[in-house]
Amino acid sequence: MFSSKIYISRRNILKSKIKSGIILFLGNDESPINYSGNTYQFRQDSSFLYYFGLDEPGLVGVIDVDENKEILFGDDVSLEDTVWTGPMPKLLEKRTLVGVENSQPKKNLHDYIKRAILLKKKIHFLPQYRAENVIKLSSIIGHPNSLVNKNTSVELIKAVVSQREIKTKEEIAEIEKAVNISHQMYKVAMKKIKPGLYEKEIVGIMEGLASSKGSGISFPMIFSIHGEILHNHYHGNIMKEKDIVVVDSGAESLMHYASDITRTIPVGGKFTKKQKDIYNIVLAAHNEAISNIKPGIKYKYIHLLAAKVIAKGLKEIGLMKGSIDEAVEQGAHALFFPHGLGHMLGLDVHDMEGLGEDYVGYNNLISRSKQFGLAYLRLAKELQPGFVLTVEPGIYFIPDLIKIWKEEKKFTNNINYNEVEKYLDFGGIRLENDVVVEEKGYRILGKKIPITVKEVEEACG
Ligand code: GLY
Ligand code: MN
Ligand code: MN
Repeated sequence: MFSSKIYISRRNILKSKIKSGIILFLGNDESPINYSGNTYQFRQDSSFLYYFGLDEPGLVGVIDVDENKEILFGDDVSLEDTVWTGPMPKLLEKRTLVGVENSQPKKNLHDYIKRAILLKKKIHFLPQYRAENVIKLSSIIGHPNSLVNKNTSVELIKAVVSQREIKTKEEIAEIEKAVNISHQMYKVAMKKIKPGLYEKEIVGIMEGLASSKGSGISFPMIFSIHGEILHNHYHGNIMKEKDIVVVDSGAESLMHYASDITRTIPVGGKFTKKQKDIYNIVLAAHNEAISNIKPGIKYKYIHLLAAKVIAKGLKEIGLMKGSIDEAVEQGAHALFFPHGLGHMLGLDVHDMEGLGEDYVGYNNLISRSKQFGLAYLRLAKELQPGFVLTVEPGIYFIPDLIKIWKEEKKFTNNINYNEVEKYLDFGGIRLENDVVVEEKGYRILGKKIPITVKEVEEACG
């Protein structure tokens, strides 16, 4: 964890933004797999981690803004518990680590909140993504389960986003540690991917590295010879000589900051001419996007720049036609690039997505498009120094989408369906790096992971 000063300062800033009431941060509890004693790897809530730093179950953090008081609610483990867990620090020691001056047993939380409600104080809480936390909150604040996520504090959401979206140098260093774990994962993957192996044989090695070097993976790995399926978590295919594999994966640093990296790797070690042509278009879009990142520019603009590079490249090889500007404005390129260019990255791989994507990626100056493709852009607003984000363009040949668009005669001015149909068994290509916005531009985080055709083929050896 960071020093207590950092958590104290984060909470003080939050207090200055939320003028009154009580702020309630529920930590996560253990989550059972198939019976209560057999649990998933514990993952603390990221906002709790950000303000209270403690990476363990059974805790609730309260910031009483009106009384300028912070309380950690939790319980010391009993002697009997320590037979199973080993000696555990006391609540007093835990709160001291993160500079909190008060602690109380968990059973007092209900009364504390009840009293505040009687005094007509506002209880601020964030949206909940775990069912058991919805139930807990429901019992603490007395709202029915179905209303908990409707009664969240927009004031708190906005305040938390405004803090967590600007990464400090300590946080950037943590994200960079995670990217450097990814660096090792990709170097090994490029060496080990071979025709005849199951996808999961490499997935296992990569996940093992993430666990041995950090806190494990930051999201379930996408590793597939069917890269055209954007979030494909099936790893049971045997890889063949001419296949390409989309490998989209991330690691967590020990403090749970995430990386999120994608490479597309030729199973036989060399790309075919057809694969290389598409690959280089994606790489050009990636490079064009990154080189334009700077404070003050809208990420939607960067997304559209990448889309134009993709449309132009596809026109050059005969898959698209007509005006590139018009094609991108109307969304014709989304047949091939149907997702957003990227998202914020931090304690969550899609940082703060649990608070509501639009609070994170949009604001009162820019709202989400309804156009297919652009609608999936998670980050559109103006960039600021300290934002850490992903840049992840891709080109995919999705047979069902191509078939339906052709039947519906969509964008026939911009798409050569007869040529596109020659790529129905191509799969997909995506490339992704993690970038910090700096005062004067940008920096790609971490050690360089092979990305050009030449670098990837060399790394495949
Ligand atoms: N987790 C997939 C991605 O955003 O890259
Ligand atoms: Mn990714
Ligand atoms: Mn990503």
